[in-house]
Amino acid sequence: MTAPQPEIDPSRLEGRLAGLAGIDRVRATSGPEPVYLVGGVVRDLLLGLEEIANLDLVVEGNAAALAERLGAEPTLHERFGTATVTLGETLVDIASARRESYSRPGALPEVEPASLADDLARRDFTVNAMALPLENPARLIDPHGGLADLEARLLRLLHPRSFCDDPTRALRAARYAARLGLSLEPGTAALLAQADLGTVSAERVEAELRRQASEDDPAPGFGLIGEWGLIDIDADAVGLIAELSRLLAAEPWSDAADRREAILAVAQGRLQGPRALVAADPQRPSDAVEAAHGHSGEELAVARALGAAWLDRYLAEWRDVRLEIGGEDLLAAGVERGPAIGRGLAAALRAKLDGEISGRADELRVARDAS
Ligand code: CTP
Repeated sequence: MTAPQPEIDPSRLEGRLAGLAGIDRVRATSGPEPVYLVGGVVRDLLLGLEEIANLDLVVEGNAAALAERLGAEPTLHERFGTATVTLGETLVDIASARRESYSRPGALPEVEPASLADDLARRDFTVNAMALPLENPARLIDPHGGLADLEARLLRLLHPRSFCDDPTRALRAARYAARLGLSLEPGTAALLAQADLGTVSAERVEAELRRQASEDDPAPGFGLIGEWGLIDIDADAVGLIAELSRLLAAEPWSDAADRREAILAVAQGRLQGPRALVAADPQRPSDAVEAAHGHSGEELAVARALGAAWLDRYLAEWRDVRLEIGGEDLLAAGVERGPAIGRGLAAALRAKLDGEISGRADELRVARDAS
């Protein structure tokens, strides 16, 4: 696992904040109520990370009103007092400062308006519970010691009931630990051992796993998820995820399969890679096309990641080979409607794939002979 080597230097926050895309617009638009940059973006600014695509804002006031002033057709989520606005390439999430309570472990929270301090106190880890006031970004608001934990490379819960309220935070812990090179603070590790994902809906667990699958380097986080016993995922599956994520990061495979969904399916044990494809050793292009026929792009990618190197040529050279003729041509040539047409076309395609024929006339001849 490669941890970033950031320079954690709060005195540089102001300059780094000024460099964020969209921030000038937000600053120019915010009204009298205090607006803060919060959560992961503050953490990442402290870490000096370059790629910050989302701005998370908390306003001690009305999020919808700020979103509307920013324009650009905000999406409002009234139940949670949040709004989303897109400014150029930047997604801005705005929330009214809120407090949360959970009716039972794993339930979605009830929310009510509150102060920034309450809003920070409801969060998952200290490193995610810091805020920067937009009017004075030099004043880091850090009531839970997030900066010290970031410097010590520690992931620490804010309160002992946190995994109980929301066990998906255990999955988030794996994501942050792997991505940012953080270790679990011992108390947090002990609480994590008790986390019970069984109290959360399958959809919420899947949504968190999908976020893990979207990471630039998803395998180490899945490794931790398995090691910590959060879901059943063994070292072979983690190795396969590492291989798949490399394969699907670049063409031609990136066009053939959805990287995130393929990785998620492997993590959930839904996709093991058709053994027949891995074991196959097609001698001719037509054999390769026949073997691959009917498999999804994700299945093919998993088989490739497991070592079926012949699939590279299948994808690049053979998958898209088509005949110049069609069934109508065979009918016009006197072949009877019915299975003979399919038989003939299949024979012509095989011959074309194997380089035995070229051009319409050849195709028609082979297809007629085989029909
Ligand atoms: N949060 C939380 N518990 C959750 C989900 C989110 O406490 N189950 C809080 C965290 O403080 C987090 C913030 O909400 O920082 C925003 O959540 P999210 O957008 O999921 O995370 P980011 O901090 O933006 O992290 P990432 O870098 O993964 O996007």
